[in-house]
Amino acid sequence: MYAERVLSGMRPTGSLHLGHYHGVLKNWVRLQHEYPCLFFVADWHALTTHYDNPQGIEQAGWDMVVDWLAAGVDPNQATLFIQSRVPEHAELHLLLSMMTPLGWLERVPTYKDQQEKLENKDLSTYGFLGYPLLQSADILIYRADKVPVGEDQVPHIEFSREIARRFNHLYGREPGFEEKAKEAVKKLGGKRSRLYEELRTRFQQRGDKEAIEQAHALLDEVQHLSVADRERLFGYLEGTGKMILAEPGALLTEASRMPGLDGQKMSKSYNNTITLRESEESVSKKVRGMPTDPARVRRTDPGDPAKCPVWQLHQVYSDAGCKEWVEQGCRSAGIGCLECKQPVIDGILKEQAPMRERAAQYLDDPSLVRNIIADGCEKARDLARDTMRDVRSAMGLEYN
Ligand code: TRP
Ligand code: SF4
Repeated sequence: MYAERVLSGMRPTGSLHLGHYHGVLKNWVRLQHEYPCLFFVADWHALTTHYDNPQGIEQAGWDMVVDWLAAGVDPNQATLFIQSRVPEHAELHLLLSMMTPLGWLERVPTYKDQQEKLENKDLSTYGFLGYPLLQSADILIYRADKVPVGEDQVPHIEFSREIARRFNHLYGREPGFEEKAKEAVKKLGGKRSRLYEELRTRFQQRGDKEAIEQAHALLDEVQHLSVADRERLFGYLEGTGKMILAEPGALLTEASRMPGLDGQKMSKSYNNTITLRESEESVSKKVRGMPTDPARVRRTDPGDPAKCPVWQLHQVYSDAGCKEWVEQGCRSAGIGCLECKQPVIDGILKEQAPMRERAAQYLDDPSLVRNIIADGCEKARDLARDTMRDVRSAMGLEYN
């Protein structure tokens, strides 16, 4: 069954920067008002590539949580936790590994891509091959239906869907499922039963997606069914058997066009970032040091904003009036580059001010962060335990 739930994870690999803020965190902050959200530190995923030097992962995790809180992720709205503190993820990963074809893992595009990209590291490991399966366990254990990720992660979400489908197909068949499902259809009541049958036929014969959505809505409305009957009806619709694990969907995060200090996309690997909580002096210094249109050798040489990375930052931080002033002033040599950079510096500092303020309380008292995470881990574990009970039972591992 679908839970209206958002889940996303981030690997702790160093300070977050404004690219993360504009690309990911702003989105999380918005989502936390719209859905129950779970956000977690994917420390095991960091280990898949940093297994030879794991010492920094823990601190990076704590720092990352402070960055999230600084950006406005609200622990009263969203559940924040650490992957390795919810060991049920590992149990699900293991159980799923039993039924995961090797070929599926080898075909995930990030597997070969990353191996080639990080060629100075031996990534022919069992753990790295299993990266997308661990991610599937992260998602499926919360039965999350919405996973905000960037484009590069879409194949992993698709992979998780296939794993959920295979799992339901293999283990979702209770003895006498057909009969039990038909009984449950009757329990819906005359009009609803007929509508359910009709929608089911439309989906099974023509793959009509709208029909399946309508049928889900119909089932959501019905109050008097037992949980077991409800799940049977969800499963019977798609012909998979009982739905034990829900197929998640990607919530595609629009690619961040946050430019870095050199005009390329802001990224740690280009060494062109401003971190979320960078000091004011450092922000000033970095922006003042940015390259500009090379044609402006002297103050009196006119320039072209289109050839200048500072102009790209004006697109993010400046209003129409300011941009007009830049266009005019640059082309006529009416303003100098340092003058032109000032509104960008001001814009960044203004954006960071509330972040710095929020971070300060957590840096002053790290036990606040520890408590937020302890709470979050507990909440996450409760949800994860529920799913694991169903998973174990479906796989015949109940031992009652
Ligand atoms: N692989 C993701 C990334 O590199 C991080 C991640 C791990 C994740 N588990 C997840 C994201 C589950 C979404 C859901 O960005
Ligand atoms: Fe760039 Fe502004 Fe200088 Fe023009 S005036 S080159 S836009 S920094």
